[in-house]
Amino acid sequence: MVTVSDVLKNGTDILSAHDIENYKFESSCIFEKAFGVKYRTPAYDRIKNSELDEAVAEQFCELIRRRIDGEPLQYILGEWEFYGLPFKVGRGVLIPRQDTETLVDFLLDYFNNRENLRFADLCSGSGCIGITLEKKLKCDKAYCVELSDKAISYLKENIRLNGSACECVKGDVLLEQTAESFENLDFIACNPPYLTAGDMKNLQTEVQFEPKSALFGGEDGLDFFRCVTRIWKNSLKAGGVLAFEIGINQEEEVSQILIQHGFQNVRFMKDYCGVFRIVYGVKD
Ligand SMILES: C[S@@+](CC[C@H](N)C(=O)[O-])C[C@H]1O[C@@H](n2cnc3c(N)ncnc32)[C@H](O)[C@@H]1O
Repeated sequence: MVTVSDVLKNGTDILSAHDIENYKFESSCIFEKAFGVKYRTPAYDRIKNSELDEAVAEQFCELIRRRIDGEPLQYILGEWEFYGLPFKVGRGVLIPRQDTETLVDFLLDYFNNRENLRFADLCSGSGCIGITLEKKLKCDKAYCVELSDKAISYLKENIRLNGSACECVKGDVLLEQTAESFENLDFIACNPPYLTAGDMKNLQTEVQFEPKSALFGGEDGLDFFRCVTRIWKNSLKAGGVLAFEIGINQEEEVSQILIQHGFQNVRFMKDYCGVFRIVYGVKD
């Protein structure tokens, strides 16, 4: 008799044989998704030696197949955690990264004691930045601005899922008329596409499943930093903050862009791995 625990072990072995680094963790996540039972809980103990339900086992095997074909675990699960909150994800939207928590940490710290905040999260994707900030700060108005329809469908779902008051705005952040419809913001958070043309040729298999429009920032990766800094500056109130997530080694160039546009106190900060991950400046 083939049992539930046999099929889990089989899935773990397959992921290991395909060099999936966290194969035990990933196979248990996929198991939980297929079987609807948390691994290593009394509920799991009750079923682990039972005979398999063929249909569920087939679903588990199909998810394992998708993973060994390179699809990211997060898309297979359909949901991922960011800053302790759940976010629905799937093809067409960028997976929230732990690196991005650095931008959230900085803004939570900077605006911790303030009330009636008005802010915009540009290039929102799943909404992980904007929704988290809106939930944790005292906000009067929070906007999430995104262009891709697919991403917007996840963004709206995540606003509902998290009971957030963020307003989803469909717009191209590179157009002046989009920026002109926002004013008096205390801060702008932006994690734009910032990979270079060279980076795009060497994407890790999993990243190739993510939308190119969420990744590619122009030949040198800096297109969004230049344009957003120039056209969104006027949407900030005096003393307002523009804070970007940046890619590896972009801190000097992005700082220069902010300085050229008259931002004061321009600084960069490291993420948990010691990589410079955010640049921010204060409007005069
Ligand atoms: C790097 S992802 C960041 C997503 C999300 N903020 C996060 O941190 O996970 C960049 C996002 O910008 C969106 N985007 C690309 N070009 C845009 C544009 N011109 N205007 C608005 N959003 C854009 C992409 O669809 C994608 O969701």
